[in-house]
Amino acid sequence: MNQRLVVFASGSGSNVKALLETITRQGYPIECVGLCTDRLDSGVEIIVKERGVPVFHLLRTHYDDYQAYVNAMTAVLEKLQPDLIVLAGYLKKIPDVVVQRWPRKIINIHPSLLPKFGGKYYYGLRVHQAVLDAKESETGCTVHYVDEHYDHGDIIRQLRMAVHADDTPESLQQRVLSLEHQLLPEVTIQLLTDQLLTDPNHHGR
Ligand code: GRF
Repeated sequence: MNQRLVVFASGSGSNVKALLETITRQGYPIECVGLCTDRLDSGVEIIVKERGVPVFHLLRTHYDDYQAYVNAMTAVLEKLQPDLIVLAGYLKKIPDVVVQRWPRKIINIHPSLLPKFGGKYYYGLRVHQAVLDAKESETGCTVHYVDEHYDHGDIIRQLRMAVHADDTPESLQQRVLSLEHQLLPEVTIQLLTDQLLTDPNHHGR
């Protein structure tokens, strides 16, 4: 039986695209059964719809209060019965109730070497600007379990790369994103199928 994958995303969806393409190309027994998004017109919605994946809009403003919003998210997930939930560029915090209902079933990708440059403030180019401001010699990306705090749960795996003297926030963002497109499919497929695409000892952690 196929493993059931649910993705959460807010943006252009290049990580979701890389993930779904890798699953299809390699023929893994994984089915993406839904996209949950907090946006009405995101690039990621187009990407998943082309592949026949159902889209669930979960906007806080559509509900009378926070509890109703949390209940709606929980109901969608109960229906989808996910084996794994992947946050791929999802900008909202996952409600505590949802984190506690699916312990160690929710993972997130973040474009820095956590615990450095993580938390509510750090998204988009801010992450890479902070890496340059701190004169870091390396940066990278992290996949971690999601807990009740932003970018905080246990780290699963990281990929590293050097920061060059002439790097800008934009150039770092571009190179880190290429690493993300490698790391997220690797970890997701490993967690869902217990198989590795590459040697686990090859990378940083
Ligand atoms: C990625 O850098 C991801 O790490 C971060 O948000 C960005 C999403 O990019 N959480 P995309 O929408 O997958 O292109």
